[in-house]
Amino acid sequence: MCGIVGYAGYRQAYSILLDSLKRLEYRGYDSAGVAIVGSGVTVQKDKGYISHLEETAEPTPGTVGIAHTRWATHGPPSKENAHPHLDCSGEIALIHNGIIENHMELRARLKASGHVFRSETDTEVAVHLIESYASDGLEGAVRRALQDIRGSYAFAVIHAKEPDKVVAARNESPLVVGLGTDENFLASDVPALLKHTNRVVYVMDREIVVLNREGARITDYEGRPVAREPQRITWTLEDAEKGGFEHFMLKEIFEEPQAIHDTLLGRVAEPELNSFFREGYTNVKLLACGTSYHAALVGKYILEELARVPTTAELASEYRYSRAPADRPLVVLLSQSGETADTLGACREANRRGCKTFAITNIIGSSLSREAQRTMLTRAGLEIGVAATKTFVAQLTALYLLAIRIGLERGTLGVEEANRLKEELRRLPRAVQAVLNEAPYIEGLAHEYAKTRDVYFIGRHLGYPIAMEGALKLKEISYIHAEAYAAGEMKHGPLALVGAETPVIAIATRDHTYEKMLSNIREVDARGAPILAIGTEGDKDLGKVVDNVIYTPAVPPLFAPVPVVVALQLLAYHVARIRGCSIDKPRNLAKSVTVE
Ligand code: F6R
Repeated sequence: MCGIVGYAGYRQAYSILLDSLKRLEYRGYDSAGVAIVGSGVTVQKDKGYISHLEETAEPTPGTVGIAHTRWATHGPPSKENAHPHLDCSGEIALIHNGIIENHMELRARLKASGHVFRSETDTEVAVHLIESYASDGLEGAVRRALQDIRGSYAFAVIHAKEPDKVVAARNESPLVVGLGTDENFLASDVPALLKHTNRVVYVMDREIVVLNREGARITDYEGRPVAREPQRITWTLEDAEKGGFEHFMLKEIFEEPQAIHDTLLGRVAEPELNSFFREGYTNVKLLACGTSYHAALVGKYILEELARVPTTAELASEYRYSRAPADRPLVVLLSQSGETADTLGACREANRRGCKTFAITNIIGSSLSREAQRTMLTRAGLEIGVAATKTFVAQLTALYLLAIRIGLERGTLGVEEANRLKEELRRLPRAVQAVLNEAPYIEGLAHEYAKTRDVYFIGRHLGYPIAMEGALKLKEISYIHAEAYAAGEMKHGPLALVGAETPVIAIATRDHTYEKMLSNIREVDARGAPILAIGTEGDKDLGKVVDNVIYTPAVPPLFAPVPVVVALQLLAYHVARIRGCSIDKPRNLAKSVTVE
């Protein structure tokens, strides 16, 4: 996730662009850059915050320009990798939000025809492609380049030879036009526009915009004009930053289909990573803290199932004190922030013990990505709410990909089976969306839980770590005491606590543990506990034994943790909201825990 802005009007573009860009800093802030077109194109960019660019760059005169705040996905944060990127002639500048899936193939083709690359980004191919079609004029060149590009993007481009305009395009990444008087704007999101206008036009997938001082002309990729009425935005700036949602946490839950989709993008062939997984270990150890640890627990089941490799999941804070065993596992470290001190410490210890270390993190360039030998990036975008939500489902997505890859390397999965699994993965965003559509129903149920003091979550197999995650979400944002148990363990102790005052939330999706879960549900029912089950759509039996059911779409059992956890996140959110809690910043907690 990055932020892009564009301006064409009568005022000096530079300060308008930087000011608007600051409103998009929530989309990423590892580097920033601006390009102004006047008598040529001037680019100023650097690694670091937008404020750093402001302090170090010289305001460039000109009334048309583009600017970018980066959230690195390909190539670490650096001046070279910061946007805007220039073509070989230095006359075309381009900014991009998204991922170009076929960038490796395009880079090879462009290099072979003499283009010189200056960055490691996927983005740079786009500006060289446009250069290669420049004889068609800027709009025509963009149109032709888009035919070669696969992936998700919002681009904005300027050209020294056509200094009155910005050309932009979108596919699967947000882009909105702001209409002013004698000036017009472009941005990834409405907050960047609100200071100047509240009249906006949302650009849709596979549309091109030509923005100048007089207006914004939108066409589809085939060149047909698009007529769309502007909308008037009535949000305040703060509302707009949350995309109209009441809290960042809710916004981030609703971004989960996109987070899964983006994490899957462009992950087909990374030969260097494949060889990393080929040999040199007999077992896998997953290390993490908090929510990431729950992803690790799910990961254990996934890896054992798909790659048939013995796997353990351990808390990073505990691993460091264990004795070094004789074996050298492949150590996978999961951390949203990549800065959690306990996880970093575990990574250093695993390196010291001579293990292969592999990080799964949402932050490229984070300490963990530097300390681990290899890294896979989850592409959930910036998460602002302290409670991890979209980064958790992105971690699960990365673990499925990892297990498929290790399975292929170890020969436990054939190519056909791997492709079938990837197809299932690509369906997950839709399954998540189906749960999100149930948000009003879940909100209704939340009223029953808002007044309670204790809640128990139960699950078996893959449902157990998801029960743990459901309990963690509820306790951290609503301050209700919540515990999770493996359903089979209830009779060994916790059942003593269960009664009419202690609701139980049971993960009871249709898998090989389902019958046993029904027995465990009956056990708590017999003690008078009100029961909410998370079940599978079409299950006619479950509703007969519990008080309420949240149905989730039928997906293969291995993938069920994803839709199920979304239901639990929504429940926790609404309970906390009804209780009036500080949802995005729960008491005593921080987004990144850099102390041990
Ligand atoms: C819970 C939560 C924390 C983090 C934990 C690890 O919602 O966010 O439990 O999961 O502090 O953080 P990362 O993943 O950044 O290492």
